[in-house]
Amino acid sequence: MDRKDGLPAYTDVAGHPPAWRQGRVRRSRVLRFAVLACLAFIAFAQWKQISVPKPTLSTAQTTVHGLSVKRLEDDLAICAKLRSRPTNPIGLGRDRNARYLDGHAPTLIKNASVWVGEPVEGTSAEDARKGKGYSWIPADVYLEYGLIKRVESAIAMSSVSADTLTFDAKGRPLTTGIIDMHSHAGANSLPDLFGWEDTNEVSGDITPYVRSIDGIQPGDHQLQVIKSGGVTTSLILPGSANNMGGEAYVIKHAIGKPDGRNETSAADMLADPDRNWRFMKMACGENPKRVYGRFEHGPSSRMGESWEFRHAFETAASLVRRQDDWCDAAAAFGVQNVKEYLPQELKWESLSALLRGQVHLNTHCYTIPDLEAFVDHTNEFKFIVRAFHHAHQTYLVPEILKRAYGGDPPASALFADNMWYKAEAYIASEYAGKILYDNGLTPIYVSDNPVLNAQHVLFEAAKGYRYGLPYHAALASVTTAPAERLGFAERLGKVKPGFDADVVVWDSDPLSVGATPVQVWIDGTAQFEDPVELQKPAVEFIVPDESLATIVEEPTLMDNVIFTGVSTLLVAHSKQESSPHDKPYNVVLSGGKITCIGLCTAELQVASAAKTPVIGLKNGYLSESITAFGATVGLNAIDYETSGDNGDDGEVFSRGEDGLQLDSKKLHIGYRYGVTKAISAPKFNGGGTHHGTSVGFLTGSTTQIEKGAVFASDAALHYTLDLSARATETTFSAAIGHLRRKLLDAAALSQAPNDTYSETSFLYKVVQGTLALVITVHSADTIAALLKVKAAVEDKTGTPIRLAIIGGAESWIVADELAAANVGVVLAPLQSYSMSWDQLRSLTGAPLTNGTAIDKLLDAGVITAIGLQEDHVVHHLALLAGTVYKNGGGKLSEKRAFDLVSTNVYMLLGLKEPNVEEGHFLVYEGSPLEIGSRVKAVGGGRGSVSVF
Ligand SMILES: *[C@@H]1O[C@H](CO)[C@@H](O)[C@H](O)[C@H]1NC(C)=O
Ligand SMILES: *[C@@H]1O[C@H](CO)[C@@H](O)[C@H](O)[C@H]1NC(C)=O
Ligand SMILES: *[C@@H]1O[C@H](CO)[C@@H](O)[C@H](O)[C@H]1NC(C)=O
Ligand SMILES: *[C@@H]1O[C@H](CO)[C@@H](O)[C@H](O)[C@H]1NC(C)=O
Repeated sequence: MDRKDGLPAYTDVAGHPPAWRQGRVRRSRVLRFAVLACLAFIAFAQWKQISVPKPTLSTAQTTVHGLSVKRLEDDLAICAKLRSRPTNPIGLGRDRNARYLDGHAPTLIKNASVWVGEPVEGTSAEDARKGKGYSWIPADVYLEYGLIKRVESAIAMSSVSADTLTFDAKGRPLTTGIIDMHSHAGANSLPDLFGWEDTNEVSGDITPYVRSIDGIQPGDHQLQVIKSGGVTTSLILPGSANNMGGEAYVIKHAIGKPDGRNETSAADMLADPDRNWRFMKMACGENPKRVYGRFEHGPSSRMGESWEFRHAFETAASLVRRQDDWCDAAAAFGVQNVKEYLPQELKWESLSALLRGQVHLNTHCYTIPDLEAFVDHTNEFKFIVRAFHHAHQTYLVPEILKRAYGGDPPASALFADNMWYKAEAYIASEYAGKILYDNGLTPIYVSDNPVLNAQHVLFEAAKGYRYGLPYHAALASVTTAPAERLGFAERLGKVKPGFDADVVVWDSDPLSVGATPVQVWIDGTAQFEDPVELQKPAVEFIVPDESLATIVEEPTLMDNVIFTGVSTLLVAHSKQESSPHDKPYNVVLSGGKITCIGLCTAELQVASAAKTPVIGLKNGYLSESITAFGATVGLNAIDYETSGDNGDDGEVFSRGEDGLQLDSKKLHIGYRYGVTKAISAPKFNGGGTHHGTSVGFLTGSTTQIEKGAVFASDAALHYTLDLSARATETTFSAAIGHLRRKLLDAAALSQAPNDTYSETSFLYKVVQGTLALVITVHSADTIAALLKVKAAVEDKTGTPIRLAIIGGAESWIVADELAAANVGVVLAPLQSYSMSWDQLRSLTGAPLTNGTAIDKLLDAGVITAIGLQEDHVVHHLALLAGTVYKNGGGKLSEKRAFDLVSTNVYMLLGLKEPNVEEGHFLVYEGSPLEIGSRVKAVGGGRGSVSVF
């Protein structure tokens, strides 16, 4: 764990609840008994007084208290409902899935490799937890009536219904549909528009009574995009702006007639039409105080939030007590004898249902104080939390989770490595999943779509595996674990007879980089009519690598070291021996630099005499180091905190170099993952926007005054023309016109301006062709307009402008024009999913689209790189390059794919790369493009090499 954060050591404070809390419980019981006794007495007295006349019509309809008998009887029936405890919907024993619609033919999937989701029978619980008994089983899978009916080898056609559809899986992996336990899809439709955004009801801090289903838009295209990633089921939660956000719903991603449903409606999407369980979302910590702290009525602190929670729970608990007292009395003495109707309050109905154990609660809590306070609430009011979400710090306090009410510790719903964006996300670890699992707790990976694109929630699980979670537990984290937490353990998450027929056939091991569905079935119905299938080599199943569970967090610094077993070089080096020899290579490092690659016989002899450490690698790789371009690393530590951030410059032009904040947590961790160089520009107006000049710097530096810390003081000149341009310009057209005017004015200058740090001076360099102009833009229309601006200015100067695009969601539409104008593109994110209106025409990839933007750009010959859209991506930039490599149908070599996060950035900007000759290199075990690889050494151009 990173102890730089100054976190106090965890101490176990678990124990008995405090005496005052036990007292409260006793008092309420005494009260209840007294009320019951009272009611009994009143009923008895009345019974004695009343002579019993023949009932007339009116007395039959009303009681002596003037209450309607019919309504009282209805109320009594409600008592039974109030006191019913839901049970999990059954799997085995059903003839058909409640969601099945008549007329859908059965399907036989032949020749699949099946991941059942549980170990072979007879495996002990202890062995199962370690992953024993799990494997890929060759089998056919028969789907009928919306259920998985048979999972057997060689199912004969003669044994299945005559109208059965067949699908040849060709030996590829088949899993259950992926379950995303934290999504806002449908409620926060994409692209983001005010008119479509219904995630948070911010009219009050306590709104347990609102329901996400009322905001779900079945037409949200993102619901289909998510399914194209193999996700068949999602828990659609209200947002986290208030402490009690409202009711949540579990949906399946089959929508309307095209997906085999009867109608286009949210109710038709419900995973459990019988609605056995209800679901609710609450949130602690920063968000409620950010949202409500701004208003008069708060809460403005965690203390206020706790009070809001307790006050609401107490109100609902009081309703529960009044109802129970009424129901007891009505049952004991007859409805004729009660003096009022059953107390009911719609506003508190859902929260009282939670206290009655009918609702599965999911609570957003990041930090130790939030978790501890909320666990206290569970014990004070006796309710269960199924999972803490955004549970970044749960890995530090397993004992707090274990003392939550109900004896079944909440699961932790996590991102694999998305962190640092606000103070409560600053303390986090990519190893959280592994650590929780090692403590007997349950990690679950989620998307929080649209925060992450839920299409790739399986990639979060894959990274969980990379960060030390056992392979089977990583797969469970998006299948069986969320199924169990949602109460669907018998229906979802496994490929077994009796389970819902939600299955996915993948084109490669699901935890491998770029794994993509070939076809997806929901309730037995194939969801893609004409799915695009990527060209991939025969499936190579991952052999779970237990050594990934050994975490080396702090490297050893070495000046001299030898690596043997390097099988692949992704770099050329002047010290590589020219004589032909057999691989693997040896790589000799001396004084922090590579002094020989090859057999290096002489060097090895010297090293042996000097007792230089030798590190043997299996399938070693040597590459350039990675460059992070386009986010805020080096200019910020915590995005949402003013004091930890260089800020948004709005219209004030500035230089990134002037704002450098080095030696940060982000930079340290990025360095460990091979990011030794970064190029960052000041923010214009929020994350992912740029204005001013970017600075190229070494991420391992302590301050910028250090020798060599800054390798490019003004790497490029940046402007932003995405949707945020409207913040400072009246119109988009004015923003384009303004930029054209600036460039033309610069083109009209007869000599370089005197103030070399002025905006004009940098514009002058741009029009002279000596400095790159980088525009942050997504829209194909704006890019087209920019290409015309470029042509207009070049027409005047006769000198080509070096223009690059950062963002580029829609750049693929003008790929040929970009190639012709020699304009490069830095995709940020690599795979857009139409978050904003100007990204509407994004390509989300197979099985929905043939390739993504990068495929079109590379095919057209555009120089392309992968940008750092958000800082946390420093953890896995190389894997993004891996996605392009694996899903590109062989268009790129490993080296050219790796160039997307290294060398290409410099080609685009016309800069000299601080390269392997200057001590910037990475040594990996395994291909850097694969999920199971790990960084073994980082050379950051600063002398000593970090060895892991
Ligand atoms: C299953 O698919 C694999 C890969 O295509 C193939 O080699 C094998 O022969 C197939 N087996 C059967 C029984 O069709
Ligand atoms: C689906 O639609 C068909 C025909 O429109 C109807 O007969 C059937 O009852 C519907 N099923 C459900 C579950 O609504
Ligand atoms: C820039 O400097 C030159 C010579 O040093 C001087 O002649 C000129 O007036 C200066 N220009 C401006 C705009 O100050
Ligand atoms: C996808 O596009 C590539 C060219 O980029 C083409 O070769 C291939 O045939 C296309 N595949 C499909 C299924 O359309």
